[in-house]
Amino acid sequence: MKLYLDTANVQEIREIHAMGVLSGVTTNPSLVAKALTQAGERFESEAAFYERFTGVVREIAELVQAPVSAEALSTDADGMVAEGKKLAALSEHVVIKLPVTAAGLAACRRLADEGVAVNMTLIFSANQALLAARAGARYVSPFLGRIDDTGWSGVELVRTIREIYDLHGIEAEIIAASIRHPQHVTEAALAGADIATIPYGVFKALLKHPLTDIGIERFLSDWEKAKQEL
Ligand code: E4P
Repeated sequence: MKLYLDTANVQEIREIHAMGVLSGVTTNPSLVAKALTQAGERFESEAAFYERFTGVVREIAELVQAPVSAEALSTDADGMVAEGKKLAALSEHVVIKLPVTAAGLAACRRLADEGVAVNMTLIFSANQALLAARAGARYVSPFLGRIDDTGWSGVELVRTIREIYDLHGIEAEIIAASIRHPQHVTEAALAGADIATIPYGVFKALLKHPLTDIGIERFLSDWEKAKQEL
């Protein structure tokens, strides 16, 4: 399973990218808004804000040289297609995120037919994932955490989509999204997700285990002790 970072914060991406384990990045309007307001920037117009957004997308794509999902804000198919083409022109690595709505499916089909990679997002059912794949989506993003919040099992949805895609030879990649903790990553890997897109804090938590830290301490202290006895 490939690991993506779920953020629009360039510093977070730079830090995780340095570990050599990152295969891509996903953003969404909430993550972009958070990253830009966190930076404390002020914008004199919506156009200026959108310009900054596209600048961040381009910067991320140039940094990671791997797929970066950027979400179209339009809600009609023509608007989604126009935005998608503009975002795709920012870098060969940009993937267009569209919600799984009738407009989103129509836009996905049009963009896919023109060779633009689409990540169909806000997926909460296997049927939505089937529709997205049939509209030409290269990626589908089931939201594990938000499904868990409703009392259902997000990872079970990943497992079901995997089974359907394998049964019918569907090549769209499953991105396990809305990841809330390291166990989601393990479960998504076991359920057959192609990718997990992981928030920065959870990504860092994947690495940590107290016994690893204790083990390093022990190795170093034993080594120091031996050196004293030489
Ligand atoms: C993918 O990028 C999704 O937009 C993201 O994982 C959603 O996460 P959330 O449910 O925590 O907002």
